[in-house]
Amino acid sequence: MVEAGKLIKELQGMRDDGHLSDALLRYAVRSIAKSDERYNWTGVYLLGEGGDELWLHNYVGEPTEHAKIPVGTGVCGRAVAERTNLNIPDVSKEENYLSCSPDVQSEVVVLIRAGDEIFGQIDIDSDDKAAFSEDDEIALIGIADKLAEQLAAERRA
Ligand code: SME
Repeated sequence: MVEAGKLIKELQGMRDDGHLSDALLRYAVRSIAKSDERYNWTGVYLLGEGGDELWLHNYVGEPTEHAKIPVGTGVCGRAVAERTNLNIPDVSKEENYLSCSPDVQSEVVVLIRAGDEIFGQIDIDSDDKAAFSEDDEIALIGIADKLAEQLAAERRA
């Protein structure tokens, strides 16, 4: 599991030093990806300008054909449409699922949000079934909230 407290402090340090969201999003994805060997694909999607499509910002793992995902489509798009985080223990049981690799067994999506505003999401795939615990989700929510702080500050600027 990712050490959320440490990563959140590092992200705040980057903010204090003047780094922008692009750097924070890349650093967070790299740090999360290397924190746990069950995290086989880790990425961030951001909502595009119209708010109706997710755009892949950066990732660690195999290339995916799902660089753009309409809101409502797949696990990623459903999380935004339903404004909720999703922890899918067995992706083979999901009807609304976009496969990136036949090896993937489970997936977690945690929204990057500040209040009512959704900026995007952290998306992690695992080749193990039910790889993501509630503690994983809580850690990812803390990280997502820190990323949202920076995105919100840039939107206000
Ligand atoms: N499985 C996701 C698509 C993105 S990939 O996991 C990288 C979905 O169903 O939305």
